[in-house]
Amino acid sequence: MGFREKFKNADHALTFNDVLLLPGWTTIEPSEADVRSRVTRNVELNVPFISSPMDTVTESEMAIALARDGGLGVLHRNCTADEEVEMARAVKRAEALIIRDVVTVSPDSTIQNLVGLMEEHNIHGFPVVDGNESVVGIVTWRDFRLAEPGLKVKDVMTKKVVTAGEDITQEEAKSILHEHRIEKLPIVNGQNRVRGLITMRDITLKGTYPDAIRDEAGRLICAAAISPFDYDRAVALDEYVDILFTDVAHFHNKNCFDATKKVLDNVSAEMIVGNIGTYEAAEDCLTKLEGIAGFRVGIGSGSICSTSVVTRAGAPTLYATAQVADAIKDYGSDATIISDGGIRNPGDIAVALAVGGDCAMMGNVFAGTSESPGRLVAMEGRYYKEYYGMGSAAARKKRYAQDRYSQPSKSVNEGVEGWVPYRGNVSDIVSEFVGGLKAAMGYVGAKTIPEMSEKSKLALVTERGSSEINPHDILLPGPNRKV
Ligand code: XMP
Repeated sequence: MGFREKFKNADHALTFNDVLLLPGWTTIEPSEADVRSRVTRNVELNVPFISSPMDTVTESEMAIALARDGGLGVLHRNCTADEEVEMARAVKRAEALIIRDVVTVSPDSTIQNLVGLMEEHNIHGFPVVDGNESVVGIVTWRDFRLAEPGLKVKDVMTKKVVTAGEDITQEEAKSILHEHRIEKLPIVNGQNRVRGLITMRDITLKGTYPDAIRDEAGRLICAAAISPFDYDRAVALDEYVDILFTDVAHFHNKNCFDATKKVLDNVSAEMIVGNIGTYEAAEDCLTKLEGIAGFRVGIGSGSICSTSVVTRAGAPTLYATAQVADAIKDYGSDATIISDGGIRNPGDIAVALAVGGDCAMMGNVFAGTSESPGRLVAMEGRYYKEYYGMGSAAARKKRYAQDRYSQPSKSVNEGVEGWVPYRGNVSDIVSEFVGGLKAAMGYVGAKTIPEMSEKSKLALVTERGSSEINPHDILLPGPNRKV
C-alpha cells in the first residue's frame, strides 16, 4: 500500500460537535423517558452519569453524592493505597441497613481516644466491647461531649444496651429504635458478639434518597480506579468496592493486558478496562482478557487533555464509542461502554448513547460542583473550582498516578491545569442533565437508553453549520457575550 492510500483509507474521527440527532417519529413525552442504564452486568444506574477518577473530581464526598442521586463516582488513585481504601470505606459506611464494618471501643479507652476515633471515622457512637468482643455498653457523642478527657469509656457509657439478632428486618429495627428512643442498635450473635450496627440515621436516609444505587446490604455502590500494575492496591480495594476501573491513558498495550489478567483472576469486583479508542483494541480485550465487564472509551477528548496536542494521537470519545460498540456487537458480548471525555452537555451524552454507549463519564462537569475536592476560588466576581488533568504537572507532582502515562511522557505533560465555573450541588447538575437527556430522547422517540441506539439517526454538521446551531446574532449577557 502506498502512503497516499493512508489518506484515502483514513477514518473520520468524528467528535460530539460534528453531529446532530435527527428528530424522529415519537410516541412518548420526554417526562416518560427512562434514563436507567447498565454500568456493568450486575450494576444498573438510575442516571447514566459517572464522575471521573481525578483528584479534583472524585473523593468519597462526590462518590456518596452521586450514588445517592442514582449515578456513580469513581474514586481517584492519586494517593496512597491506604487513602484510597479509606475513601472506599467511607462510601460503604455512608449508608447501610446493617453497618458491618463497625468501629468498637474498649471500656478502658479514654475519652480523648474516643474523640480521636470520632474525628477519624466521622461517626458519633460506638458499641463498647470487652476482650471477648461481647457488648458491654454503648457510648455516643451525647455521653462524652462534656466529659473530662482523662475519664474512661466505662465511666460514661450506657451499660444497659438494647441489641438485636442478625435476622432483624428494617421495620422491626425501626420500631425498636422508636420504642426505646435510641439512635443506634448493635446487632449481635448468639454469644453477644457484635456483628453489625443499625442506626436511625441510615433508616431515615433510605427514605431521603429513593434513587440511590445500593448493594444487597443496602450500602451505596462504590467504584474505584486502579493502575493495572498495582496489584496490591486492587486486592485491598476489592474488600470494599463493587467495580474497579483501570485508569491508564492507553490500555491497548501488552504490559497492561498481562498485568490486568492477574488482577482479574484475583478480585471479585467487576472490572471496567480502559481507556481504549478503536475496534481493534476492543477486539483484543474481548478475545484476550476473560471476564471484563466493560470498557472506558475515548482518548484525548477530555477538556484538560493535551495528549493529542503533544502526540497527535487520540480517538475522540464519540468515534471511540461507535468503534467499541461495533466490536461488542460483533463478538456477541454483553460488556458495557462508558464514554469518557469531552462531554459538556446532555446532548453530548445523547449522541454517545446513540452510537452504543451505556453511560457517560465526566470530569469537567462534576469538577465545578460543591462535592468535588478542588479548591473554590473567586475571580473577578465569579466563583470557580480548581480542575486539572491527571497528566498535568500539578497531578504528576503527587506521583501516584504517574503510570497512567507511558514511560517517556513522564517527563512531558499530557494535561493542563485551570479552573471551571462553580456550578452548585451535584444534585442540581444531575437534574439538569436528566432533563436535557430526556428531552433528547423525546426528539428521537426513544423511551429507554437501549432504544436510543436502536432508533436514533445522526446527521453530520459542517463547520459553517455549527455556528448556526449555537446562539447567534444576539448580544448575550455575561462571558459569552457576542453578536
Ligand atoms: P472531561 O472532558 O470531562 O474529561 O474533563 C475527563 C476525562 O479526561 C481524561 N483525563 C485526561 N486525559 N490528559 C489526558 O489526555 C490528562 O491529563 C487527563 N486527565 C484526565 C480522563 O479519561 C477523564 O475521565
